[in-house]
Amino acid sequence: MKNVAVFASGNGSNFEAIVRANLKCNIKVLVCNKSDAYVITRAKNLQIDCAVIDETMYPVKKDFEKEVFKVLKKYEIDLIVLAGYMKIFSEDFINNHNGPIVNIHPSLLPKYRGKGAIRRAFEANEKQVGVSVHYVDSGIDTGKVIRQEVIEVYEGDTLKEVEDRVHHIEHVLYPKVLEELL
Ligand code: GRF
Repeated sequence: MKNVAVFASGNGSNFEAIVRANLKCNIKVLVCNKSDAYVITRAKNLQIDCAVIDETMYPVKKDFEKEVFKVLKKYEIDLIVLAGYMKIFSEDFINNHNGPIVNIHPSLLPKYRGKGAIRRAFEANEKQVGVSVHYVDSGIDTGKVIRQEVIEVYEGDTLKEVEDRVHHIEHVLYPKVLEELL
């Protein structure tokens, strides 16, 4: 079975959905770059090891990534799964990690890369939004798309309703795609 590390920076609802999906892999560790992120509490409740690498302690990216590599080595990680991880890897990091890195993004890539994707799509009056699971490269949401799901926006929808619909789809789609990749 493959060893997986999930990386997250905030709420962690996707992390929890992945853990609860009981995939055929070992979710070895949560890696978190923010010391006050709610996902740390989720990891404790789900009894998953948590490596908090507080990014404010490592102003130089190379030093931060060195710490990340120590964790990957310790847990013999094959697959890196980003789930709301708000930090871009250097090209060196990506080349040195021996295995795939995947991410989930709440838009129909290549549209609406980066932060605030659902809000930006909503404000642009898109009739369809969506979710993309993609491989990670050193750009912002630029890697090859693995799978996408389209989500309709209905007349009169609020932003909150659209966001909830997107997140619900994420929690189903991401574990499904990961299961296939594994
Ligand atoms: C999700 O919308 C994901 O697509 C994006 O960041 C958000 C993370 O949410 N990359 P959560 O922390 O998993 O609740």
